[in-house]
Amino acid sequence: MPVSSTEISEIVDGLSAKQKQISPKYFYDERGSQLFDAITRLPEYYLTNTELGIMRDNIAEITEKVGKQASLIEFGSGSSLKTRVLLEHLSELAAYVPVDISAEHLHTSADEIRAEFPHIDVLPVVADFTKLFQLPRPMVMPVRNVVYFPGSTIGNFEHAVAMELLRVMHHEAGKGGALLIGVDLQKDPEVIESAYNDSAGVTAEFNLNMLRHLNCDYGANFDVDEFAHSANYDPDKGRVEIKLISQTNQTFEVGDKAFDIADGEAILTEYSHKYTLDGFAAMAAEAGFVVEKVWTDKEQLFSVQFLVRA
Ligand code: SAH
Ligand code: AVI
Repeated sequence: MPVSSTEISEIVDGLSAKQKQISPKYFYDERGSQLFDAITRLPEYYLTNTELGIMRDNIAEITEKVGKQASLIEFGSGSSLKTRVLLEHLSELAAYVPVDISAEHLHTSADEIRAEFPHIDVLPVVADFTKLFQLPRPMVMPVRNVVYFPGSTIGNFEHAVAMELLRVMHHEAGKGGALLIGVDLQKDPEVIESAYNDSAGVTAEFNLNMLRHLNCDYGANFDVDEFAHSANYDPDKGRVEIKLISQTNQTFEVGDKAFDIADGEAILTEYSHKYTLDGFAAMAAEAGFVVEKVWTDKEQLFSVQFLVRA
């Protein structure tokens, strides 16, 4: 997406706060999207494989819930990896609408989906889904909208923003609509921490790439080599806190604003919340949804949930 002055002000505001922070949406330039795909293939990153397994094991029931002639609207579609499992089994779909902020990656993935599923009306939308955006009108009138939000991307938002997003999805689902969502669950902290501190260092590279992205596209001048990746799970808060730690006293600029950062000081780049089934059901209810079905793996690492409007 073209750089807007609103985004520069958003970045400057985050870095001006007591706890310096940058929104995780800035991970995703083309390289960031590729690095995320590499993360999904790491042995430590249990989320993707577990979610894919749950989808495959329960695909008949899942597609029956989605129903015929639905419009499938995916928030944060990335490479649409799990979506393929759905598309292979949803023979009658009115449209597939992948929504993502990473424009180049979205268009490449949409072209691949079109080639693999020529009978499906694929309507990609480049947008920041935390802001209002226009949904395209499919060629065939859908019977219902089903919002798809896999990967536990919901966990990357603080409670108030996650609630707002659930309300937006409730609205986009419309009358008779539903939400199919991937939700990561609380578990042994060691399992969680190793998923975000992989031995190959891909997550560290993904985290540091945010600074390269800001240098390239947002007029920043971070010395990327002078920052280090950090990810710790806080079991009380049920979230991984992902940060970039300054390795020295230094100054950097974004646009025309200069910032000092001390040796050891952190920039918060992402939270990844992990939920209990009851905790997530309470959030869903507050947003006007009823949890109709929960599918999990044997070890209850991850869940895929089908929510309908109350
Ligand atoms: N759904 C995929 C990808 C998850 S990665 C999966 O489950 O594997 C998160 C995706 O959300 C990325 O593709 C990223 O570009 C997108 N994303 C993150 N924040 C976004 C935002 N605010 N608006 C739109 N897309 C966003
Ligand atoms: C996209 N999101 C669900 C990922 C997660 O697990 O929170 C992003 C990620 N950050 C580091 N590794 C993966």
